[in-house]
Amino acid sequence: TFVLFNNQITERENVSIDMEDRGYNFGDGIYEVVYIYGGKPFSMDEHFRRFEESARKLEMKMPCPIEELKEKTAELIQANNIHNGIVYIQMTRGASARAHLYEKEAACLITGFARKMDPPAEAQEKGVKTYLTPDIRWLRCDIKSLNLLGNTMAKRIAADHACGEALQHRDGICTEGSSSNLFIVKNNEVHTHPANNLILNGITRQHILQIAGEQGITVKEAPFSTEELQAADEVFISSTTMEIAPVISVEGDVQATYPIGSVTRALQKKLKDKIK
Ligand code: PDD
Repeated sequence: TFVLFNNQITERENVSIDMEDRGYNFGDGIYEVVYIYGGKPFSMDEHFRRFEESARKLEMKMPCPIEELKEKTAELIQANNIHNGIVYIQMTRGASARAHLYEKEAACLITGFARKMDPPAEAQEKGVKTYLTPDIRWLRCDIKSLNLLGNTMAKRIAADHACGEALQHRDGICTEGSSSNLFIVKNNEVHTHPANNLILNGITRQHILQIAGEQGITVKEAPFSTEELQAADEVFISSTTMEIAPVISVEGDVQATYPIGSVTRALQKKLKDKIK
């Protein structure tokens, strides 16, 4: 297994990380997950643009030009001979004696791995059950940071209720899933939370908005309530690893079941076409 460590492709066993790496002590870092289809990364440019954006928001200094990182990522995929899978790239603010105050000039550490993974055919076909829970996360969910405890706690709660994904709401306004964006369909119109500080502006989300536009489907990027979630005609979630998965039920703070509808299926198909 080859990994990316500090701009080198190397065997995983050669890697050691300092126990005072700020990623380890503070979760002081960012990441991206890119899907690989047939050996080719999908939307690599968009993912790396967001990576740079996350770095900028946290005043992290890129240790190398983004183009170089893209080349290394392509090498990493090749070295591991991945046909379908993911590549994970992370950057922390590196090692320094533990202190809250970060230095803007700190030497950041990039690591990455690539792994085989097939698209989740069953979730895409049969849909997923979800569990709605309060969004307890911080107010910069737009940054793809390593701090994911709010997300992991929500996912655990969902799993404890035999659900595949957690949906979150902030004071009754639906935000997103624990690792996905959330959409509802009402009267053939698609609604999703606006891309502000309360959600991650998913790359898949952005593709969906574009596809919907091309298909003449109206999309409203506007906040919607848990009552609107409950009364939706169709619900679906999206992410790099899931693409589009229909939501067949919600439990927790509201309860409802949903059919897998024609709008969800149409968007799902068009997204698959785009990826292939
Ligand atoms: N998660 N919202 C959150 C909180 C996420 O963690 C993700 C993705 C998304 C969807 O973004 P995108 O379409 O760019 O993948 C939305 C990734 C897959 C992960 O953490 O593994």
